Amino acid sequence: MTTAARKRLYIKTYGCQMNVYDSERMADLLRPLGYAATGDAAEADLVVLNTCHIREKATEKVYSELGQLKRLKLAREKAGKATTIAVAGCVAQAEGAEIMARQPAVDLVVGPQAYHRLPELIARAHRASGERLAADFDAEAKFDALPEARDVSGVTAFLTVQEGCDKFCSFCVVPYTRGAEYSRPADAIIAEAQALAAKGVREVTLLGQNVNAYAGGLAPLVRALAAIEGLDRIRYTTSHPNDMDDALIAAHGEIAALMPYLHLPAQAGSDRVLKAMNRGYTADDYLRRVERIRAARPDIALSGDFIVGFPGESERDFEATLALVRDARYASAFSFKYSRRPGTPGAAMQGQVAESVKDERLQRLQALLAEQQAAFNAACVGRTLPVLFEKPGRHPGQMVGRSPYLQPVHASADPALAGRIVPVEIARAEANSLAGALALEPA
Ligand code: SAH
Ligand code: SF4
Ligand code: F3S
Repeated sequence: MTTAARKRLYIKTYGCQMNVYDSERMADLLRPLGYAATGDAAEADLVVLNTCHIREKATEKVYSELGQLKRLKLAREKAGKATTIAVAGCVAQAEGAEIMARQPAVDLVVGPQAYHRLPELIARAHRASGERLAADFDAEAKFDALPEARDVSGVTAFLTVQEGCDKFCSFCVVPYTRGAEYSRPADAIIAEAQALAAKGVREVTLLGQNVNAYAGGLAPLVRALAAIEGLDRIRYTTSHPNDMDDALIAAHGEIAALMPYLHLPAQAGSDRVLKAMNRGYTADDYLRRVERIRAARPDIALSGDFIVGFPGESERDFEATLALVRDARYASAFSFKYSRRPGTPGAAMQGQVAESVKDERLQRLQALLAEQQAAFNAACVGRTLPVLFEKPGRHPGQMVGRSPYLQPVHASADPALAGRIVPVEIARAEANSLAGALALEPA
C-alpha cells in the first residue's frame, strides 16, 4: 500500500453537529497521510481536540483535557514515541494564541475555516518551525480543499451546506468563531449527497449555523436532494425563525422525504429580552410562524433552544418564556443558563442574573419541557411509525433507529435491517425514546 508508516489519529469532538461533521472531514483529510482512527488517545500519534466555545463550561473542558493530554504526551515520550497535539474548532478560533501560551504541549491550533491546512501545519510543527496557528476565515477555500470522498459507515450522515452567521445575537460567539455566512454551491452539496447515498446513507441532516439562510433558498436544495435515489430522509438544523421562508414552510407539506421535525430556537418569550438578545422577532412573530408551519405539516415535531437568565431578565420576563413554551408545544428542546461570553455585547450588559436565579428558572423550564416531551412521546403509543434502523440496541436481539420525529425507537429485529425503513407499532414511551414491535414483515 503506502510507504508511510501507519500512524494513529485520535479525535475528540465537543459542541454541535457541525463539529461532528468537521471531525469526520479532518479524518478524511488525514487518511491519505497514513493516519488511521483510534478510540484510544494513549496510542495516538496525533490527537485533535475539536472544541466548542459556546458556553464557559465547554471552553473550560478544553483546558482540563489538555492538561491530561500533556501527561500522556510525556509518558509516550519516555517510551520513545512522539505525540502531536492539535486544537481545532471554535475555542481554537477564539483563543488560539492563549491556548498556545497556557499549554505549551499544544503543537498547533487550527480554526474551523482553516482545518484543510492541517497536513501543512502538522508538517511545520514537526519541523518545529513556522506557522503553528491558522485562524483564517475562508470557508470557500476550505470546502474546495477537502477531499471528495467521505469515509462513512452508518446509514445517517451530516452534510454541511451553510456555515457562519451574520446575525450577532448579543449572547453568542458563533459569528466570531465561524465567521460570516457562507453557502456552499448546490452542485457540490448534491455531489456529496449522491456519494453518501451510493455508500448506503439513507438519511442526511443538512447543517448550518443558519441553515435556512442558505443562499438561493433551502427549499429548492431539499427538493434536489430528495430526488437522489436511495436518499429517503432529509433533515436540517439549525434554523433561525426569521429565515423560515414561505417556500420552506410549504416544502414541509410537499416533500415526503423532508422529515416532520423542526429545530427552531426561540431563546426567550419576552419581547423585551428578545430585543436585548437582538433576535429580530417578537414572541408573537415566533408563534405565528409555528402556526403556519403546523398548517403545512400538522404533525411536525417542534424543537428549540432556550436561554434563561439573560441580563435583565425579570421573573415576569421568564414567565413569558414559560407562556411561549405552553403555546408552541415542543416535542423536545434544549435549555441553557445564560453564559457570559467575553467579547459579546451581552457580557457588558447591566443586570447580570444571579446563578441561583438561573438555576431555579432552568429547573422550572426544564420541568415544563419534559412534560411536553413526555406528552408528545405518549401520543405516539399505538401508532405505527416508519423507523430507519441504524444499529443494534442495548439488549440482545434489539435494533434501534429513529422515527420521522427523530425519537430513538427500540424493537426486536434482525441486524440485517440496518439501513431499512420498517414500520414499527409503538407500544411504550419512555422519557427520551420509544419501544415497539415490527408491524409487518419488511418488503
Ligand atoms: N444558530 C443557532 C444556535 C447556535 S448555538 C440559532 O441561531 O439558534 C446553540 C444554542 O446555544 C443557541 O440556540 C443558544 O440557545 C445557546 N447559546 C448560545 N450562546 C449562549 C450563551 N452565551 N449562553 C447560554 N446559551 C447559549
Ligand atoms: Fe448565534 Fe444568533 Fe447566529 Fe444563532 S443566529 S449562531 S444564536 S448569533
Ligand atoms: Fe460550539 Fe462552535 Fe458549534 S461554539 S456550538 S462548536 S459552532
